[in-house]
Amino acid sequence: MTTAPEILGTLHTLKTIAIVELDAVEDAAGLEAWRIAYLGRKDGRITMIMKGMSALDPEAKRTVGAMANDVKTLLESQLEVRTEEMKSVELNRASIEGRLDVTLPGRRPALGRLHPITQTVREITKAFASMGFQVVEGPEVETDHYNFEMLNIPKGHPARDMFDTIWLDHTNAEGEQDMLLRTHTSPMQARVMEMTKPPVRVVVPGRVYRYEATDATHEWHFAQVEGLAVDQGITFANLKGTLYEFARLIFGPERKVRFRCDFFPFVEPGVDMSIDCFNCDGAGNVKGSDDGCRICRGSGWIEIMGAGMVHPRVLEMANVDPTVYTGFAFGVGVERIAMLKHGIDDIRYFYGNDARFLRQF
Ligand code: PHE
Repeated sequence: MTTAPEILGTLHTLKTIAIVELDAVEDAAGLEAWRIAYLGRKDGRITMIMKGMSALDPEAKRTVGAMANDVKTLLESQLEVRTEEMKSVELNRASIEGRLDVTLPGRRPALGRLHPITQTVREITKAFASMGFQVVEGPEVETDHYNFEMLNIPKGHPARDMFDTIWLDHTNAEGEQDMLLRTHTSPMQARVMEMTKPPVRVVVPGRVYRYEATDATHEWHFAQVEGLAVDQGITFANLKGTLYEFARLIFGPERKVRFRCDFFPFVEPGVDMSIDCFNCDGAGNVKGSDDGCRICRGSGWIEIMGAGMVHPRVLEMANVDPTVYTGFAFGVGVERIAMLKHGIDDIRYFYGNDARFLRQF
């Protein structure tokens, strides 16, 4: 049987030898072998000594145990120090051998960024926010009720042909399909008016869906920003002023705007708004030549949104008294704005997920 003084002696020797051996270790494998030999949990030397203590009386056990622990802690910290040392030695060696040039600039990690359409949505909503509009969002899966009925587009109304709808596999009690992917953000006009008493000033960014073939100017899904202002005494002048300001915030202070009659069942009167072409300054051709401008296709004007005074029937259906309140609404196609701003000639680039395209914004 081993006595306490003998164990203490062994510990002392072990500590000295371990440290000498550790200094001599030359590589990572050697370090690991050393760790297992001395600090290994199953049969490392320290563990073995601790196991051998069981026969000692309690007081001797305490002394020996404390010493064994001290040695263990010391060896552990020495191991850590040596590991760090070896790392820098290894680094030096690698750089001397030319495998690693520490003077080279680091490689920049690839940074992600917001999609150009998200950026454009934010620019648009920011412009309206600066004029006091709140930003709200609505559901992409809509009901026939909000997408059409509440917007004065009853069943059989020819205007429904304007929207090629993606219907959901869902029918009402009469067996008619009654749910769809919203074809525009306008259903939020009714939802907002039902929820909020005037005065109301909101913009609604969001995705919309249409069942149609894609080409350079059509996608089956795209983004819109809807706008709605309802209060007492709102006139067409307010619509014009607001949208004019918007055009200048997005396309520059020089912009002129043009309003022409257009038809949407949920507004009366309805208009489309164009801006004078920022590429040719409304001239319709490239400066100093006869070549037609490719942005406005020679017309000098670019159509950017639909708008109008909210139809009294739409107000009424949403429980807003049309004899007291009036309002205006508008809808902007976001991709179109982004294409115009950046001179992009094919809408499909936005959703082609080609990083070479997306990286440019
Ligand atoms: N919802 C219409 C569309 O998608 C745009 C619009 C909105 C027109 C609001 C007038 C008023 O084409």
